[in-house]
Order: sequence, then C-alpha cells, then structure tokens
Amino acid sequence: MLELLDRLPPDPILGLMAAFRADSDPRKVDLGVGVYRDDAGETPVMQAVRQAEQALLARQTTKSYVSAVGNAGFNAAMERLVMGEEHPALGAGRLRTIQAPGGCGALRLGAELIRAAAPEAVVHVSTPTWANHVPLLSNCGLRLERYPYFDSATGGVAFDAMTGALDRLPPRSVVLLHASCHNPTGADLEDGQWRELLALMRRRSLLPFIDIAYQGLGGGVAEDAYGPRLLCAELPEVLVAVSCSKNFGLYRERTGALHVLSATPGAADAALSQLARIARGLYSMPPDHGAAIVHAILTDERLRRSWAGELDSMRLRIQQLRAAAVQRLAATCPRRDFGFIARQRGMFSYLGVEPHAVRELRERHHVYMLDDGRINIAGLARDNIGYFAEAVGKVVR
Ligand code: LMR
Repeated sequence: MLELLDRLPPDPILGLMAAFRADSDPRKVDLGVGVYRDDAGETPVMQAVRQAEQALLARQTTKSYVSAVGNAGFNAAMERLVMGEEHPALGAGRLRTIQAPGGCGALRLGAELIRAAAPEAVVHVSTPTWANHVPLLSNCGLRLERYPYFDSATGGVAFDAMTGALDRLPPRSVVLLHASCHNPTGADLEDGQWRELLALMRRRSLLPFIDIAYQGLGGGVAEDAYGPRLLCAELPEVLVAVSCSKNFGLYRERTGALHVLSATPGAADAALSQLARIARGLYSMPPDHGAAIVHAILTDERLRRSWAGELDSMRLRIQQLRAAAVQRLAATCPRRDFGFIARQRGMFSYLGVEPHAVRELRERHHVYMLDDGRINIAGLARDNIGYFAEAVGKVVR
C-alpha cells in the first residue's frame, strides 16, 4: 500500500536548513530559518530558561500526565503576558486558553475549532504570509483565500488595498493577522491602523485570528501585543495563537498556547471543551517541559526580570543589525534603496531581489535565504555582514 505514495519535495524552510548544514564552505551565511542568533551565530539557551529548567528538574517528582489543556499555571501566565495584567477580557471571564505544541499547534487547534463551529468558514491570509500557515490552516478542510498586504514599492503595508479587500468579505469570514514582526515581510500595522481594522472587523462581523509568534522582538512586549489587546478588549470573539519559540528560545520544546475570546463565559467554556476534545483526538496532550519553564519564569520576579532583560537585548541587536545592513548595502548597491530594512520590525525582511539573485547568492556565495528573498536579519553578525553586503552587490543589477 505504501508503495503508492509519491515522494514529496522538502519543506521550503526546513529543506533550506538542511542544505545549509550540508554546505562545508566556511564563508556560508544562514539567513534562512527563522531562529534568533547571537553575534557568534549561536541560538543560545536564555539564562532564565536555564535557571528555571535546573530548578524544575531538581524539584520534579513525577512525569505523570497533566491534561489535554495543559499546565493551568502556564495558561494563566500566558493570558497575562499576551493581554497585559489588567485586560478587561480577563475580568469578564470570557477568555480561555489551551496549551499547545508550539505556535503551529495553536494555529492548527484554532483552525479545527473554527471548522467545528462553521465548516463552511473561509480563512483569509495576507499576501504573502508564512508558508506554513497554508497547511496548518487548511489541512483540516477549511478553505483559504488571500488579501493584499505588502507594498513592495515602500516595504510597508498596503493598508488601503488590505482594508478595501477585507471590507468586501461576507460576515463570519476569518481573517488571519500577524500581531507584529510580520513573517515574511517585516511590515507591521501601526497602532492607528489596528484601530481602523477594529472598526472594520466590527462593522463586517469578521473573526480575527491573530498569530503572535514574536512578542518582544519587534517594538517591545506590550507594543507587539497592541493589536491582540485592542481587538480582545473590543470585539466579542477573537482567536490568538501564541508561540514561545522565539521570545523564550524554546523552539524544540514546542511551547505555545491558543487563547479564545468568546462573547459570554458560557460560550468560552464550550469552546474550551471543544478544544480539549480536538487536542485529545490529535495528540492527546501537549508536551509539558517548555510550558513548565515559561510558567516558572513568568511567576518568579527575578527570573522574569532576567528574561525581559535578555529579550530586550535580542530586540536591540536586531534593530542594530537592521541599521547596519542598510548602511552596508548602501555602499555595495548604490543604485538600490534598502532603507525599508530599517523601517521594518522583527527577524524578517524581504530583500526584494530577483529569483536568479537568490539562487546565485546560495550557489556561488553560500548566502542562504528563502526562495522568495526573505532574510532572517538575526543571521547577520559583525563578521559576516560585510561579506553578505558584498555578495548582494555582486548579484544585484
Ligand atoms: C520560520 O518562519 O522560519 C520559522 O517560523 C521556522 C519555521 O518553522 O518555519
């Protein structure tokens, strides 16, 4: 039976990660997969994570099951991290949270919940969006459509085109939004644009499904959550998928959560019961380790301060790299304006070079980026940024 299966090409992002590892050239530069790196090119374990983990291992007495919705303390701490301590949805008892296997798991749970509630619902994603949004949201049977988002002429958001398209959607359409650090473009909505979007969502009865995977790596922990906080304060229903991969550096521990805001506490309880059933049927229970670490950090004043400080320095490093990249590229590509890189936020930017240039960069210069020209800014460092800019200068005409 299995002989009938076709062999599939590798995933575009994970395949690139493998190709980079296999390249033995010492000059190679990895701007592919979206993981944070320090100046030595490492993705370190954060200090607070290491300390929380050691304490956790010392005091853990059992590996017995937790529950389909995961660690209750983690879920409560994540609600406060994402929404802020005083958020009205918390007081109103309309928010429920399920721990998920990473942000991907949260996105899939949200899609399954939407399908359980409205199998005919259509999810609208930005053009472009993170490649893995497509299978995560559509493999359960939901239909996906696109709305315009990125303006390649300015490197910013094509807000008029975006709102024009969303304003034509039928009620009960689902709109996937990136809270901050848009993947793959780095082009984010401004606070005023979130407020306009709120009015639009309310007027057209749309359901926002917000992906927040980079909280703290764009403008700051509160700044990056402006959109989800606003929409959850004002709308009856919102889904928020959260990842702890990047801001806690817990990638392989698969740590995330799905927040569901419902119109009433009773409806919220019903949604959570559905999610518990969905999780049980997909993977039974989420992995505990990463969530236990995050819980320990967020509920300990000293660890939390250490984590927040390290996150601040990661964000600062990315901002400095953005400025440095613009400067270096101005010298090696004087006929092109790469100023947009400094205006964008988070780990990603579209370099805006042709497919042949992406290929040449990889094959001749060992500089790896996604086929669409997305670069991970955090992959740049003091000792490779000059080489990177020179390589781009050689392939850009
Ligand atoms: C990325 O966009 O590169 C990251 O989110 C990693 C992944 O799983 O694709």
